[in-house]
Amino acid sequence: MAESTKSATLTIDGQSYDLPMHSPTAGPDVIDIRKLYGQAGVFTYDPGYTSTASCDSTITFIDGGKGELLHRGYPIDQLASKSHYLEVCYLLLYGELPTAAQLEDFETTITRHTMLHEQMQNFFRGFRRDAHPMAIMVGVVGAMSAFYHDSTDVNDERQREIASHRLIAKMPTIAAWAYKYSIGQPFIYPRNDLDYASNFLRMCFAVPAEDYEVNPILSRAMDRIFTLHADHEQNASTSTVRLASSSGANPFACIAAGIACLWGPAHGGANQACLEMLKEIGTVDRIPEFIARAKDKEDPFRLMGFGHRVYKNFDPRATVMKQSADEVLELLGVENNPILQVGKELETQALADPYFAEKKLFPNVDFYSGIILEAMGFPTSMFTPIFALSRTVGWVSQWKEMIADPQNKIGRPRQLYLGQTERDYMNIETR
Ligand code: SDX
Repeated sequence: MAESTKSATLTIDGQSYDLPMHSPTAGPDVIDIRKLYGQAGVFTYDPGYTSTASCDSTITFIDGGKGELLHRGYPIDQLASKSHYLEVCYLLLYGELPTAAQLEDFETTITRHTMLHEQMQNFFRGFRRDAHPMAIMVGVVGAMSAFYHDSTDVNDERQREIASHRLIAKMPTIAAWAYKYSIGQPFIYPRNDLDYASNFLRMCFAVPAEDYEVNPILSRAMDRIFTLHADHEQNASTSTVRLASSSGANPFACIAAGIACLWGPAHGGANQACLEMLKEIGTVDRIPEFIARAKDKEDPFRLMGFGHRVYKNFDPRATVMKQSADEVLELLGVENNPILQVGKELETQALADPYFAEKKLFPNVDFYSGIILEAMGFPTSMFTPIFALSRTVGWVSQWKEMIADPQNKIGRPRQLYLGQTERDYMNIETR
């Protein structure tokens, strides 16, 4: 971090405190408050971290006002159209686009880590068949720390790299097997002659009884969805991974914590919630009713797939996702899918409504992804597992960056205490 040349002055009860400021390569300056409590005996207060930078990072930059998303400086729309997921994984992990030799070596490494320890199948079989695949993913990924002991020492750089590769490589197998288990079909093993997205589609949709040919257009669309979800700076699940990792916990346990956080409907669970909302709306003529509910402060209903803490403009991922939805549904001959029509009309009507314009609420990455995934044959319960699969590279990249940071220390926020002050115990007879 560049030495601070600017400072902010805070005055409390006539006493002034100079706080150093740091300037980024892009985005807002930050006020360094690390010494504030020691100097002034006060905490800052920011539930939800609306104005707080929790770390410094070089991986992903978001300009919410412009609707810009950069991974190591490269715009997401360029990566989505010109790159592919494993190349983006390399970029996120190592900071630069790979040479052809580096990419081949990385893809070979990932391909050779896609199988699971055979005994892990017992974990899947311990769940009820109707278990949500996210429940299975949280459990199985956490259990990886009981199977891959040789990559749990976070202080060993080589073990950190092996754990990163194992997680990126095995998540598609875990997600696909969670799906197969839920529909009572046998697990399909990964194949080393298939690319990452094709392997995942085959593990999900092939059956032992016949050959399965992956549709290259669908695997390209799948790969693009992986890329669009790969990383997103300090979102809730990434912050969960960072906080869990700050205690020195092993990477598998920390990624399991990230999966658990992503599951929520306000975060990665929104893709499932959005499609369920579009199905509940059902027809275009019911859209005004739901927009009215979303605006009604007395009604907890929100438009799923709309709004974002950072984007106050279009989420650039949603723009690419919408184009992909048109392509995939046309390819599948379902371009007149009524749910897609409801989604497009809902977007049009919401964006024309002053409430959404004033609050700068736009479609986010989750608004169109579910429409594509359902058209590809996935049940809504698989939407968030696919998000988790895609985001694993972001979680491990941010985790590696944090562990390697010499400033890294355990995260331990304080609080504004509003509870009882000290009082004496009362015996039960006197209560
Ligand atoms: C993801 O952080 C990331 O980067 C996340 C993510 C990633 O890649 O990791 O981008 C992935 O999680 C995308 C977001 C998916 N979630 C949803 O689509 C769920 C629906 N959206 C919201 O619940 C909401 O917009 C959030 C959670 C996404 C953001 O919430 P904030 O930033 O805390 O904003 P807020 O709740 O304070 O809302 C501000 C105002 C409120 O009105 P007022 O109290 O000011 O009058 O906007 C309203 C809200 O009521 N509002 C909505 C709304 N979202 C916000 N009103 C109707 N519908 C909505 N969707």
